[in-house]
Amino acid sequence: MALVSAKEMLQAAVAGHYAVPAINLNNLEWTKAVLAGAQETGSPIIVQVSEGAGKYMSGFKNVADIVNNVIEVQGITVPVALHLDHGTYAGAYKCIKAGFSSIMFDGSALPIEENLAKTAELANVCRQLGLSLEAEVGAIGGEEDGVVGMGECADPDECKKIADLGITMLAAGIGNIHGVYPEGWTGLQFDVLAAIKEKVGDMPLVLHGGSGIPEDQVKKAISMGVAKINVNTECQIAFAEATRAYIEAGKDRQGKGFDPRKLLAPGAKAITEMVKTKIDIFGSAGKA
Ligand code: 13P
Repeated sequence: MALVSAKEMLQAAVAGHYAVPAINLNNLEWTKAVLAGAQETGSPIIVQVSEGAGKYMSGFKNVADIVNNVIEVQGITVPVALHLDHGTYAGAYKCIKAGFSSIMFDGSALPIEENLAKTAELANVCRQLGLSLEAEVGAIGGEEDGVVGMGECADPDECKKIADLGITMLAAGIGNIHGVYPEGWTGLQFDVLAAIKEKVGDMPLVLHGGSGIPEDQVKKAISMGVAKINVNTECQIAFAEATRAYIEAGKDRQGKGFDPRKLLAPGAKAITEMVKTKIDIFGSAGKA
């Protein structure tokens, strides 16, 4: 199946009160494992790369080729959107050219007027090409220079301004952060989410930093309009722990040993299981 825009799957998610997982990719193993999890559960899926991961994977064109080839070889029939995560203005155009079906332009670090102008331009381009566009208001925190912030909250009026530009989905900080949540984290700010939802109506909302948020908070956020949930860190941890266990058990030295394909298999399986767990929590199984 060819790559699809994330628009239809996210609008269906808002209407059906579930969320589509958006899983970050890092390499071929990740791609195979994530798509396997979506296919096994019959869930639509968004696979995404940051600009750094795109570079690591030898460029956005190679990312698109890998995803398209895995879809074909694994016989993936569920809808798959290939998305740029936290794109710059230049990165957005590179991914459009490389064949991505969905783009995030993250202008949250720019002055709001510049963020609005660039988002409006990209919304127009993406609409003409049939691609989905995610925009961001209010930075989503995370670890910076070893300091982990508590998570910022977006201004609902700014959310309304950017939602009205014709974007597909909106990332707005509600106390969520990327990476591992710090001790004493105060949780998602549902009053802010409600105020944003009130302003933007049925616009699908995106929850970044989906790793490590307690399940009840995730489900409450979905019931309030969150339709795309980004998960990266939990897949990385699952991969690292499974690989470490395999090595510590000396299994990399059994039989013929030293086979990189065997060494990476437990980590890949752990990613598939993590994706299936998220699909279960987000309620997207069988919605493909
Ligand atoms: P986590 O790494 O916290 O899961 O966040 C992923 C993310 O939001 C990518 O944009």
